Amino acid sequence: MHDIIEMLEEKRAKARLGGGQRRIDSQHKKGKLTARERIDLFLDEGTFEEWDMFVEHRCTDFGMENDHTPGDGVVTGYGTVNGRLVFVFSQDFTVYGGSLSETHAEKICKIMDQAMKVGAPCIGLNDSGGARIQEGIASLGGYADVFQRNVEASGVIPQISMIMGPCAGGAVYSPAMTDFIFMVKDTSFMFVTGPDVVKTVTHEEVTQEQLGGAITHTTKSGVAHLAFENDVEALLKLRDFVDFLPSNNKEQAPVRPTTDPADRDDMSLDTLVPDNANKPYDMLELIHKVVDEGDFFEVMPEFAKNIIIGFGRMNGQTVGFVANQPMVLAGCLDIDSSIKAARFVRFCDAFNIPLVTFVDVPGFMPGTDQEYNGIITHGAKLLYAFAEATVPKVTVITRKAYGGAYDVMSSKHLRGDVNFAWPSAEIAVMGAKGAVEIIFRSDIGDAEKIQKRTDEYATNFTNPFKAGARGFIDDVIMPHGTRRRICQSLAMLKNKELKNPARKHGNIPL
Ligand code: HXC
Repeated sequence: MHDIIEMLEEKRAKARLGGGQRRIDSQHKKGKLTARERIDLFLDEGTFEEWDMFVEHRCTDFGMENDHTPGDGVVTGYGTVNGRLVFVFSQDFTVYGGSLSETHAEKICKIMDQAMKVGAPCIGLNDSGGARIQEGIASLGGYADVFQRNVEASGVIPQISMIMGPCAGGAVYSPAMTDFIFMVKDTSFMFVTGPDVVKTVTHEEVTQEQLGGAITHTTKSGVAHLAFENDVEALLKLRDFVDFLPSNNKEQAPVRPTTDPADRDDMSLDTLVPDNANKPYDMLELIHKVVDEGDFFEVMPEFAKNIIIGFGRMNGQTVGFVANQPMVLAGCLDIDSSIKAARFVRFCDAFNIPLVTFVDVPGFMPGTDQEYNGIITHGAKLLYAFAEATVPKVTVITRKAYGGAYDVMSSKHLRGDVNFAWPSAEIAVMGAKGAVEIIFRSDIGDAEKIQKRTDEYATNFTNPFKAGARGFIDDVIMPHGTRRRICQSLAMLKNKELKNPARKHGNIPL
């Protein structure tokens, strides 16, 4: 018995040391924490329960039979974040570069299966050189086992990937199927093939950072949702983020008590929209002024900035915000913004998070670039997502709601539950100038006549009343009372029940 306990301690000590002090020092020198340090920082203190510390790889090629590290390059288990259960795996770059062996994959699959059984989020702290090259096909099989679980868990438990080192090859595809991907600046990379392969195949010379760094993926490709300065900031923010989410698709997000009154007016909102309809204003200001305590967790803030998405709370309840941003491209919907918002809407709908939509949209972005790249298909994703969503949906039109974009942005017709308009709302098929130039084309040479017709159109059509007369909006509200009206609407919608027709699954235009 004594011997066994000694052996146990020996094995534990070996597992804790991962690939050895030299490699731990090298990890620290790069500004990175170790797999275990990351878990300690992420979870509530002392709550981590580790599983499979003694698992070892089974590879016997390339001399691997003589080289075993207990745990095999990934630390797995569960613990709590602000008292709520989460499962976590943290890849250990000091053991074969965090590469994924058959047994490494089995460890990840085990906690994913358990997370599914008990309905708790699964968080990956990724730091991996991809498939364990010495294991070949066994490693590929391991990846596919993880992928299959990612898909089955999609929409059942929240899955989040925090990329904290180089992630190459197979290591990027599991994160790609999770709900959110976050990255750490300068030390994390994601690419299907690295710079050397790129150079051989396409003759492009590109650095790791340019090809797949945090800035690239949060500004250019849209693959990742947020970039953090370092491991510590990333893990602390991840804790805040998890706090907004429900544990699974059958539960509601936790309600966080607030001292911010639900009926708080904000008089400054009455002058947010400028008199000149072509002048931009910052939609973020509206979001910050209506959410509890101004606490808004924006997602993808540097990608497709013409639309804003993120989480806040209204009277303690998590809400997903989607808002056009008139400061960028006048708030037009284009390919990137449609995809960005559509995926977010679907996440919220899958996890019972009500949607609040702020609308100021002049339409879809015109042009060959957009058309050739499929704005029709991609714009339809957002339309599909809003139409499909059965969670409570509250919409506020602050200014422009023109054309197809009016329909798309959580309109009454797409089962919007409560649709408000500010007095500054212009709900119309298009702006006055464009409309007049089409219907009164024969008058185009007569500037005075055109101006008169434009003024008439603006007075008669670009206002909230035509939509109000048809019941397309439920009320015209004063901007200062927006928080109060949204909180009231969400309280009314608390027990909303709406189901889509039974089917295997819909066929969203991918
Ligand atoms: C086994 C690996 C490894 C791997 C790294 N190591 N990647 N061991 N399998 N895939 C080991 C190294 O041998 C080294 O061991 C240690 O990890 C650290 O690696 P370094 O190269 O010294 O570190 P760094 O310079 O930081 O570079 C990190 C890296 C690079 C960018 C990840 O190692 C790299 O390019 N690795 C290969 C990436 C790759 O091609 N993966 C396979 C993809 S194929 P020592 O003993 O020196 O510490 C794939 C297919 C799956 O994933 C497809 C499924 C759809």
